[in-house]
Amino acid sequence: MTRVFSGVKPTGNLTLGNYLGAMQRWAAVDQHQADALFCVVDLHALTVEHDPARVRRLSRQAASLLLATGLDPELCTVFVQSHVDEHARLSYLLECVATDGEMRRMIQYREKAVRERERGGSVRLSLLTYPVLMAADILVYGTDEVPVGDDQAQHVELARDLAVRFNRRYGYTFVVPRATHPTVATRVMNLQDPASKMGKSEDVGPGIVYLLDEPDVVRKKVLRAVTDSGREVVYDREARPGLANLLEILAACTGGNPSELSGVYESYGALKKDTAEAVVEVLRPVQERHKALCADPGYVEEVLRDGAERARAMARPTVDAAYQAIGLLAAAADIEVTAQG
Ligand code: TYM
Repeated sequence: MTRVFSGVKPTGNLTLGNYLGAMQRWAAVDQHQADALFCVVDLHALTVEHDPARVRRLSRQAASLLLATGLDPELCTVFVQSHVDEHARLSYLLECVATDGEMRRMIQYREKAVRERERGGSVRLSLLTYPVLMAADILVYGTDEVPVGDDQAQHVELARDLAVRFNRRYGYTFVVPRATHPTVATRVMNLQDPASKMGKSEDVGPGIVYLLDEPDVVRKKVLRAVTDSGREVVYDREARPGLANLLEILAACTGGNPSELSGVYESYGALKKDTAEAVVEVLRPVQERHKALCADPGYVEEVLRDGAERARAMARPTVDAAYQAIGLLAAAADIEVTAQG
């Protein structure tokens, strides 16, 4: 059975971009068709300036939202990254395979490093090595497919490169994974600035729809979306990025096709109105389930505890094999077990 792994980083409130680019498919498709793991990747949230209490709050919220989107712990494994030590253990080995130049070429590192410096902060070393930890997240489970938005493509490509390099040097150890992307809304753009991605880590903005925004707030944000000058509704990502973004959001929410939808509308106003309602309808059940889960924190904790246990059992043999392959001595306890076994 295909093994699928993906994750969300608790650095801000989750957005419509996270949902349409990734989470929607995890619940609708991946958990039914694959042996799937979904993770709140909290260690990654420590790579930029952070407030410990906020990271804890956002991690709990992200876990509840994963379940609220419809992930079923009977069908897939939902857990928190820091509960499974194997991610960090494998990350170190992969740092011994990755190169400094490779890390510095990562687009997200370059963009985030500039942003941190502009804020007057220092760039944490962990921001540079972030993609290696992400590769470990993926490789530790023998992952075949990584369902992500377009912005993560380069990171998954690095995970592939590291798997191939490790296997070549030290013997076959890792499955070589590949990224999968949705057919539409693979990069949802900021409604106020269609040239930038709708990102959760940015400051609160009128161009970002959060999964927990009230319906009226969603409507207001979508109705005020920046569109391009022109009157005709056409789907053209290059020439009409604001309009294309709305058409993609509408298509992703309704299961339609952006080109076909463009033919249905005669005015920007009508398109915005329908897009707003489609987003409200997609978020409604997620918000309802999230509310119910918040009233039952014990349930979410139990799911995460079971999930971590299952994940640990899957990860351990891969990391043990990697330790051996790369030249580390097995610990005495392991030798005893092997000798007895
Ligand atoms: P993160 O938390 O930024 O985003 C989670 C998922 O949402 C997708 N996404 C988007 N898709 C479309 N349009 C957008 N505007 C948008 N914004 C976010 C992302 O592509 C992602 O799929 N590095 C990862 C987390 C991570 C991970 C992993 C993912 C760590 N380890 C291993 C997969 C496998 C990240 O920061 O995602």
